[in-house]
Amino acid sequence: MTEDNDRYWESLAPGAGRRAPRADARTDARTLSLNGTWRFRLCADARGTGSAFLAHGFDDTAWDEIAVPSHWVLERVTTPGAAGPASLRGTADGPLYTNTAFPVPIDPPRVPTENPTGDYRLVFDAPDDWGRSVLRFQGVDSAAKVWLNGEELGWSTGSRLPVEFDAPVRPGRNVLAVRVHRWSAGTYLEDQDMWWLPGIFRDVEVIERPDGAVDDHHVHADYDPATGMGTLRVDADVPGLVEIPELGLRLEAGEEARIAVEPWSAETPRLYRGTLTSRGESIVLAVGFRRVEIQGGVLEVNGAPVFFRGVNRHEHHWDTGRTLDRETMVADVVAMKRHNINAVRTSHYPPHPEFLRLCDEYGLWVVEECDLETHGFIYAGWDGNPASDPRWAAAMLDRVRRMVERDKNRPSVVVWSLANESWVGDNFATLEEWVRRRDPSRPILYERDPSYRNSDFYSLMYPDLERLDAIGRREEDRPEGIDDSADARRRGLPFLLVEYAHAMGNGPGSLADYHAVMRNHERICGGFVWEWIDHGFRQVDAADREFVMHGGDVDYRPNGGRYCLDGLLFADRTPSPALAELAAVLQPLEFEHGAMGLTVRNARDHADTADLSLRWRLELDGRTLDTGSLDLPVLGPRDEAVLPLPTSAGEDPGEWWVTVEAVLRDGALWAPAGHVVARHQVLLADVPRRQRSSRVLPPSVPLSGGDIELGPGRFDSATGRLISLGGIPVDGPLLDLYRAPTENDRGQGGRNNLAAVWSAVGLDRMLHRTDAVEVAGDALVVRSRVAAATHPHAAGVQYRWSADDDALRLDVTVDFLGPWTDTPYQQRDIAVPRLGLRLGLPGDYGGLAWFGRGPDESYRDSRSAALVGRYEAAIDDLQVGYPVPQENGNHMDTRWLEITGAPGLPRLRVEGLPRFDFTARRWTSEDLERARHPHDLRDTGRVWVNLDHAQAGLGSASVGPALPERYRIPRRRTAWSLRFVTTL
Ligand code: GAL
Repeated sequence: MTEDNDRYWESLAPGAGRRAPRADARTDARTLSLNGTWRFRLCADARGTGSAFLAHGFDDTAWDEIAVPSHWVLERVTTPGAAGPASLRGTADGPLYTNTAFPVPIDPPRVPTENPTGDYRLVFDAPDDWGRSVLRFQGVDSAAKVWLNGEELGWSTGSRLPVEFDAPVRPGRNVLAVRVHRWSAGTYLEDQDMWWLPGIFRDVEVIERPDGAVDDHHVHADYDPATGMGTLRVDADVPGLVEIPELGLRLEAGEEARIAVEPWSAETPRLYRGTLTSRGESIVLAVGFRRVEIQGGVLEVNGAPVFFRGVNRHEHHWDTGRTLDRETMVADVVAMKRHNINAVRTSHYPPHPEFLRLCDEYGLWVVEECDLETHGFIYAGWDGNPASDPRWAAAMLDRVRRMVERDKNRPSVVVWSLANESWVGDNFATLEEWVRRRDPSRPILYERDPSYRNSDFYSLMYPDLERLDAIGRREEDRPEGIDDSADARRRGLPFLLVEYAHAMGNGPGSLADYHAVMRNHERICGGFVWEWIDHGFRQVDAADREFVMHGGDVDYRPNGGRYCLDGLLFADRTPSPALAELAAVLQPLEFEHGAMGLTVRNARDHADTADLSLRWRLELDGRTLDTGSLDLPVLGPRDEAVLPLPTSAGEDPGEWWVTVEAVLRDGALWAPAGHVVARHQVLLADVPRRQRSSRVLPPSVPLSGGDIELGPGRFDSATGRLISLGGIPVDGPLLDLYRAPTENDRGQGGRNNLAAVWSAVGLDRMLHRTDAVEVAGDALVVRSRVAAATHPHAAGVQYRWSADDDALRLDVTVDFLGPWTDTPYQQRDIAVPRLGLRLGLPGDYGGLAWFGRGPDESYRDSRSAALVGRYEAAIDDLQVGYPVPQENGNHMDTRWLEITGAPGLPRLRVEGLPRFDFTARRWTSEDLERARHPHDLRDTGRVWVNLDHAQAGLGSASVGPALPERYRIPRRRTAWSLRFVTTL
């Protein structure tokens, strides 16, 4: 053993030599940013390079260079023992992703000898008149020991929390040496579902501490909703002067003032800027006056019930991991505001402090969660779980203290969350008591203990809708093992839906359903979608093709696989269709059209509608005929008004729609004037079209095995299949019962795995057999049996073709024959994912125009964002590039679809009788299912169009309940009809 044989990285203590945690603040004290290029050497175990690197004279020129802040596993640095540069490609020390499992054997607080350790070294200069200072690390993963000019300052664990050391910085040259261990005792407290990314990944600064500088300050800014008065007191450890010029306030630190103010809320983020000036420094204050209370089991802010339209946000960037620049943080906040999100749970650790400053400024409610999760103990039956082991109390408390002390002055933070998924234990009582004493102004959340004894909220993850509704009524089942009085207390608590709607792959479904249930009950103070962004990394494969890497792309076990890709944003921060759906569901104005007119309800809790105006457009079959604006009276929070509809339908045949949009009157910090915050459509009239008189054509019966002709169609007389339509060579249409499974179709583990059931009954490999081709009067009737190898069950299909002058009409009837069971599943009621037709067209086709829902994808349980209209798009632009290829791009309620090709090719128009779902792509569902990454998808040279009676909903079963029955496609006799017209 070497000099490091005190094995601090395996200590139950959280650190040594550190300064007491204190409030984050901007100061005018001189600050040296130590961000930049450092010297770095990666070693295989905790000994690092030994002690020589501490010395001033040490020659580090042979060492690698690394950017600070960063995660070394995402940087191209030299790995000892590995030939060439390490990259993201799963080298011995690359990024690793586990979901719940620990990457180390469970033997707390010990970790393996193989413990990649990075020695960092920086030479920096301080000005000649530099004085006493503090060295601050905003985040180091997972344990670090620090030396300045050869002197040991201390060490710390707690990756996503700041740590400060008194630092005897000298004027002139200084040498900072930091040893960072990938695994430590802290690892046992940091088992969040995310990538393991070691390194100095947040800012490093030296802050001068002149005599009389403020060590800590605590802003108490209460708002009394009854009187409209604010109360301000800023406590500090040294004498100081508090100045808020806008309020004309000049106070001593510790002195209290009462003054009329505008309160802070996420909707009205009113900040009063000022300073706290002591003898040694001046600190920037951004004061938001507000009061958070729980009254009668309802969460209130400033006297009004508050509703969180929330998301869970991890810090992630597809190149830099949890190292985020300010621009990225602003991008997140702006995108949230633009999508009607008003709350963030900082799952599952305190974010970079700048993010919270942005939340104060832009207006987002924050449930701030501590960097604490011990999930992996589940694999030991929770034996040894730190939460119930008093030896871990200090380390757990250290984390909560560092969070609360750092962020206690942020008005946006309205709830402290003690931890995620760490089961139960008395240590939570220790944390709770400390937080209550230190900050009685905010309620406390801990979701996982079924007694909720340390929580001011009842809370769950991923309940189904029925259970959520029962909770809203306070009629939920009692958790097991809870006595009467604990249960009565729990039942009296407000409910916060800490995670729901797992946005993995295509989905989630039911966002609108969840929102409706939550809005229905004051007990429910809102929910947080899981999660904001896909944690995927930009990577290139051996052929230099870029793709988004997930856990499963790294050769390592245990492995959380694709579960890191479950965000509303793709890894590159492009919004997924789910984010548009969420924005539509969360819109802050609610509309309802009835006999009296259009009811407009302000769904905000604190802001009126003075910032919004209404505009409308009248469309006939998707063509705009008129536009205008509509007077929106200023509606107070939760107020409503009934407005007359601004326009009416005419007499021309077709669908008359009016679309009303609420837009920002003036620009806001987060969006320009005209930004749409809410939309609503009303069908004014559907004026019937006059029936055209047309000539019905009978099929030609071939004399000897030739083709059958019927209007614009030509059929193979043996198979009865359409081979050409108005001169376009086609494949099908043939019955299609399958889709490329989505992540949600695959369920979670063995649970709710619909895709496995589909495959077990052969839906993914159906064979078509023609049983009859008959001319029956004016129609051609083709009967076919569609079934999979191995199985006796089948779908019986009848295609009935008829023609008038220019069109071919298809009436399809499907029957399900046989038992439709399979031994492993024995499901009597297997629903199919799709009931439709697949049509192949020549690859020269590529343009689409349609009247129906759009422009983006819609599914039966996710269609709020897709308004009825007339849209145009190229097929290639309708593909949603889920990083793991799967079903995407469905369009519901299509009245007609036109498909165009290269100049000179006939245009194909498909009309629903009355409606259908379509998808169009250059590959098949089977190709989609087989592809591992988007670049595996190849143009097949054909265009594959699905013309479907229906497609199943998306659900959220990758984590969450099974797809509700009403969103499945029942296996029963179904008929639907389409009309095909070709024109040149
Ligand atoms: C929750 C957990 C999250 C994430 C999610 C599933 O249980 O808190 O961190 O793992 O499930 O993706």
